[in-house]
Amino acid sequence: MIKKKGLYYPLEDFKKKALVKNKSIYKEAKKSPLKFWEKLAGDVFWRKKWSKVFKHDPPYFKWFLNGKLNFSENCLDRNIETAKNKVALIWEPEPVDERPRYFTYFDLYREVNRFANALKELGIKKGDKVGIYLPMIPEVVIAMLACTRIGAVHSVIFSAYSPQALKVRLQDTQEKLLITADGYYRAGSVIDLKKNADEGIKGTKVKKMVVVKRMGNSIKFNKRNNIWWHDLMSKQDDFCEPRVMDSEDPLFVLYTSGSTGKPKGVVHTCGGYTVQAKFTGKWIFDIKDDDIFWSMSDVGWITGHTYSIYSPLLNGASFVMFEGAPNWPEPDRWCSIIEKYGVTTFYTAPTAIRMFQKYGEDLVKKHDLSSLQILGSVGEPIDKESWLWYFKEVGNKKCPIVDTWWQTETGGILITSLPGVGPFKPSFAGLPFPGVKFDVLNSKGKPCSTEEKGDLVILPPFAPGLLRGVYKNPKRYKKTYWNQYGENTYFTSDIAYKDKNGLIRVVGRSDDMIKVAGHRLSTGEMEDFISKTLLVSECAVVGIPDEIKGEMPVVFVVPSKKLTEKKKEDLKKSVVEQIKKGIGPIAFPKEVYVVSDLPKTRSGKIMRRIMKKLFSGEELGDLSTLANPESVDELKKALK
Ligand code: WTA
Repeated sequence: MIKKKGLYYPLEDFKKKALVKNKSIYKEAKKSPLKFWEKLAGDVFWRKKWSKVFKHDPPYFKWFLNGKLNFSENCLDRNIETAKNKVALIWEPEPVDERPRYFTYFDLYREVNRFANALKELGIKKGDKVGIYLPMIPEVVIAMLACTRIGAVHSVIFSAYSPQALKVRLQDTQEKLLITADGYYRAGSVIDLKKNADEGIKGTKVKKMVVVKRMGNSIKFNKRNNIWWHDLMSKQDDFCEPRVMDSEDPLFVLYTSGSTGKPKGVVHTCGGYTVQAKFTGKWIFDIKDDDIFWSMSDVGWITGHTYSIYSPLLNGASFVMFEGAPNWPEPDRWCSIIEKYGVTTFYTAPTAIRMFQKYGEDLVKKHDLSSLQILGSVGEPIDKESWLWYFKEVGNKKCPIVDTWWQTETGGILITSLPGVGPFKPSFAGLPFPGVKFDVLNSKGKPCSTEEKGDLVILPPFAPGLLRGVYKNPKRYKKTYWNQYGENTYFTSDIAYKDKNGLIRVVGRSDDMIKVAGHRLSTGEMEDFISKTLLVSECAVVGIPDEIKGEMPVVFVVPSKKLTEKKKEDLKKSVVEQIKKGIGPIAFPKEVYVVSDLPKTRSGKIMRRIMKKLFSGEELGDLSTLANPESVDELKKALK
């Protein structure tokens, strides 16, 4: 890239070939965002065109009203017309000696049609919810698309979530069917997923389970309500008529952490999500016909939905799906994959970049990564040093780095500079996607001045893929997103600022959410679980900086009675155990502190902000408003 006054621009050669190279696109979109999105929607396959582009009834809004379409038809049938035998999915298994699996668009089409018929056989109808608790195997793509083919609403639950975390989510959506697998690999060992699924469905409405045989590990198989995926598929027809859906019908629900202990079911709809997923992917990753796209994110997260699977398919691209961890069995496995398949677009999280960086550039240099054209970053702020390392050592100073800001709620990327236009600035996500209006507001609700930090908000007409609701919880939808600055302003819960060029830098969250290795976790969910299962009178979890993972949780507990030193150690161990049980290994705490009191205001609110500052070394500020300022001294001692 070309560097000018601290900003980076794409090389002429790259620009010439880029799908979007002229910054006039921003002006055009700004003039009429509705016309802009309408033009993009024209490139999606609709069974019936919409009659109105946008309707706003705050805090609700709709896009492409009365338009009719089917999502799987856009991902598959449409590509079959032009690229039937093009490879869609390249699946790289975790064991290096196992053969990859390739699916052309036609292969995938047939598998999806068959599984759609299987779902029908199991009694699944339009609007029914289907739980998917699968690892990174091709069947997860097939299952998700099959749901969309018949108008069922999928809810994918991250396969490394614990049975308890699975249960909470299933209880909210009340699925009758769960699709899972016998097991999967995690860094060489076999995880018994079926066992977790069996435990997780207790106390839920799940009546049947379809089980994919991935590992062949011995599992408990209950013939009454368990069905093998392969048995079910063997008798299905290759075609299933796609169910024509309304633009505003739900497409999927994905749970994400919220400020309270209970996760929120974020609802995305058919029309708006499709348009946004297609075009954000196409323009931000400059997807062309011969590209090989690889997004490392697990399908259990929104990035795994939109960019590991859906956007490449909507754009008829070839994409890699990797079952394992990028540093297994060797730290440079990710480089080997890029080299093996000639990956052109690589999308990962800053945590992974920091980990790669720690292993050192010599490992990277052992590989030919010259196929790379674009590098992406997502999920957490990327620091300047990691950005530069990614830029120099992985992208050979040639690839634009799209630092993409978005959320489960936004459905697709909404801030990042376009690769053929720029500019790029290390640690800044960049410019809003054309047609989307962001602002940064101060506590009075007024726009912040340049470089002044404030709340990042989205203004009407928002974006077609923005969530339409929190599953069966309109109150929470209103309170979380439309309360702070009124019902016309979407509140992101992120703190950001703009520089003099209008580039946006997102600094972090303003709520109790933490990003651990790019995964969004709620400290409230952990606290809830600890308080429910252990004998503690109080508990607080805060996120503190971590060199590799960005953030990690630390836990403070106040036992309900006085404990001996030995018992305190036991309690610490139980806290770690309970977190693993309640959420999963991703929430593993960096430290657990057993203390006799937590700093509180006079009204009893635990001051997590102060506890966080104890770790960062920041000034603690005025402690006189606390009901128990002496508790801070105890914490300071505990931290030494
Ligand atoms: C954070 C992930 C800085 C942010 C797609 C947001 C980022 C939350 C970036 C959403 C970025 C995401 N720079 N922060 N490029 N991308 N975030 O729902 O705090 O898992 O609100 O969606 O991640 O996390 P979620």
